[in-house]
Amino acid sequence: MLILNKTVQVFFKPSKRKVDGFLRSFNFHPGTLFLHKIVLGIETSCDDTAAAVVDETGNVLGEAIHSQTEVHLKTGGIIPPVAQQLHRENIQRIVQEALCASGICPSELSAIATTIKPGLALSLGVGLSFSLQLVDQLKKPFIPIHHMEAHALTIRLTNKVEFPFLVLLISGGHCLLALVRGVSDFLLLGKSLDIAPGDMLDKVARRLSLIKHPECSTMSGGKAIEHLAKQGNRFHFDMNPPMQRAKNCDFSFTGLQHVIDKIIMQKEKEEGIEKGQILSSAADIAAAVQHTTACHIAKRTHRAILFCKQRDLLSQSNAVLVVSGGVASNLYIRRALEIVTNATQCTLLCPPPRLCTDNGIMIAWNGIERLRAGLGILDNIEGIRYEPKCPLGVDISKEVAEAAIKVPRLKMKI
Ligand code: KG4
Ligand code: ZN
Repeated sequence: MLILNKTVQVFFKPSKRKVDGFLRSFNFHPGTLFLHKIVLGIETSCDDTAAAVVDETGNVLGEAIHSQTEVHLKTGGIIPPVAQQLHRENIQRIVQEALCASGICPSELSAIATTIKPGLALSLGVGLSFSLQLVDQLKKPFIPIHHMEAHALTIRLTNKVEFPFLVLLISGGHCLLALVRGVSDFLLLGKSLDIAPGDMLDKVARRLSLIKHPECSTMSGGKAIEHLAKQGNRFHFDMNPPMQRAKNCDFSFTGLQHVIDKIIMQKEKEEGIEKGQILSSAADIAAAVQHTTACHIAKRTHRAILFCKQRDLLSQSNAVLVVSGGVASNLYIRRALEIVTNATQCTLLCPPPRLCTDNGIMIAWNGIERLRAGLGILDNIEGIRYEPKCPLGVDISKEVAEAAIKVPRLKMKI
């Protein structure tokens, strides 16, 4: 660093190109001149092999991702050993690509951060063993990352968001509401008691055979539902949002899925078609399921906001709700949440779509957050294990239920 300071003095008001060239001769990446912290993040918790290099100001210096979605779409769901094999085949290339794109030499890294919980055991294992080898070779600190914490803090990379804020994570594998009070200080307000909304939408899309629909064949289930719903009329089917009497912030989607299954079976009979063919009422069913899902998610989130405000856990007039996960890209669900945030004087924020879904950037960024806060940085990696199941923060969902907050009815005119 001393040498570098001298270097800068030599060039008084230097042109950027000159400095860049000069530094290159020292084997230094120009963008890293005054930056102290650079983290390589590695993610393999589910079906994406991802890596990224991020600096402490939130600059993404390099990233790479290999998605397994296409393979799993064909088999109708993730088969863990297949996911594991694909992670094994791709991890080295993906990490190399992210590092090369960043122009950072591995010795310049401050630490390596990797998702170790929660997730699919076989998938987590690949990322962890690869990372530990790298940590050992490079003699760098290791930062174990909680996948959900990383999702929750991603917004701080793109927006200036201070703690505390509320986060709603909705995807194919996640469904939870949490209060984020610090880098590793979370209060869990509610979660799905069964499956996640994306999983339910995927199952409905599969049951409707939307993969055979000419407009939807390459879309994920949730996206296909959103697309078709625009052409449908939700009023053709009457569905009640789940758990209307439970005054907590938990979610449930299996009951809704079964109701839709029954409707589809009935319609198949009426229309005289076989399972596997596309119903003429598919768009109406998509519109109804999307609306019911949006109302359910909006109501639980509304209660979470009221609870936090009642307990002075969130600002009365300046609170922030962050929504992330694959399902957060659904504009209908976002509009439902906007109705809630408008009614409660909150600001609704969503990371850009590529940061809503699984990626390496959020893992690297969580590493930066942890480095800055001095939390969970390991010099000794002995005994490190992955944890397929791991709750997020302190679970206060019982306390939320005991408060039994009645949520005022909002007109969900979306
Ligand atoms: O975050 P993500 O890529 O992966 C995890 O599940 O962790 O989310 C994928 C999920 C899938 O279930 C997919 O159907 C759903 O997000 N999804 C959507 C939309 N786009 C993706 N759900 C509703 N509307 C969408 N536009
Ligand atoms: Zn995720």
